[in-house]
Amino acid sequence: MVGHLVVPGDKSISHRAVLIGSLGEGETQVRGFGRSGDTQATVEAVRALGAEVEDVADDELVVRGVGIRGLRPGDVDCANAGTLMRLLTGVLAGQDGEFTLSGDESLTSRPMERIAAPLRKMGAGVETTDGHAPLVVHGSDKLRGIEFEPEVASAQVKSAILLAGLNAHGPTTVVERIPTRDHTERMLEAAGARIRRGSTGVTVEPAGALRLGEVVVPGDFSSAAPLLVVAALVPGSDVTVHDLGVNPRRTGLLDVLERMGTRVSVFDRRRVGGEPVASVAVQPGELVATEIGADEVPGLVDELPLVALLASHARGETRISGARELRVKETDRIEAVTDGLRALGARIHSRDDGWTVTGVPTRLRGGRIEARGDHRIAMLGAVAGLSSREGVAIEGADTAAISFPGFYELLESVTRR
Ligand code: S3P
Repeated sequence: MVGHLVVPGDKSISHRAVLIGSLGEGETQVRGFGRSGDTQATVEAVRALGAEVEDVADDELVVRGVGIRGLRPGDVDCANAGTLMRLLTGVLAGQDGEFTLSGDESLTSRPMERIAAPLRKMGAGVETTDGHAPLVVHGSDKLRGIEFEPEVASAQVKSAILLAGLNAHGPTTVVERIPTRDHTERMLEAAGARIRRGSTGVTVEPAGALRLGEVVVPGDFSSAAPLLVVAALVPGSDVTVHDLGVNPRRTGLLDVLERMGTRVSVFDRRRVGGEPVASVAVQPGELVATEIGADEVPGLVDELPLVALLASHARGETRISGARELRVKETDRIEAVTDGLRALGARIHSRDDGWTVTGVPTRLRGGRIEARGDHRIAMLGAVAGLSSREGVAIEGADTAAISFPGFYELLESVTRR
């Protein structure tokens, strides 16, 4: 696989641009918007709550904000998007009225008490259905700022609390022992909110108004990841992804690739709208096993299935631990990856919080993998297919469009050369 490419705009940043833009004063231009099943759900959500969103192009939007407490009551379908459901609940905690948030079967099985409990502590009414969606949020204009340390390292939980804190009385602090992605903090700062960041947490002050103006969304590192991993696995590859978001809290995969023996170079570093951006080139090398623990997990949480695949091709035994969170993603990714890769010939065992993988001396045989309605598992299947001897058939391949419509076409365009 040889080529120069760009990937669609970052999903995490695209969700945040629409949500924070909807709370802004005036217009927010979003360029490089990563349009996908998930982010389209966010556009529909803010429309349902009274904000106007104009589609200028597939990757460009204008959001007309209603002000920091201006959303109006309504029902929202969050579809498959956990980020939408959790961040929006934080936003709605400080709005007037009653809001119902529902989602698809996968989203309805994911834990929501982790956001409901701290938001209740702040004074919002948040009813869950046995800890899950549907959620009913009764917003309050009397939210109190709190100091809170989430039990799990989660950017979604942190962001929900910070977004609620915009409308609270007094400062709101989230304590983080293991840092998670900080796109919310960066964007709120760009919108004029007062944010204080320390080594163990982040504090937001109540905000009178937000003004984003323009957001230029960098390429999504998590969408580039499958392409970079194909390049690491297929002999003779040389792939460069340009205009890619390289926020250091997202690029743990690059450290792991280097540690395992892949040649990685990051160049043309610059800053675009408060986020670091660069070009990233990957060439294959002799892969050796590695060890990944809890501290490293948030920096590559969505890439861990790909790391398990890399480990299947590496000399020695790789242990991935501290990743219990993968059990409550779009599917139980620990079991989906274990069953999926084992069926293709990998030597992988699941543990409660990760995997043990022993590299096989030849390429994986190939076979069939079930996406289980999870976009990251579908893309894992495609990468495994390209690096296997016989190829991989992916059941439910379409689900890749949840984060990356056009994924297979892009992959084909670089593998054909
Ligand atoms: C995300 C945070 C992560 C990640 C998800 C997107 C975000 O989830 O897995 O794909 O945009 O904040 P958690 O916060 O649950 O770890």
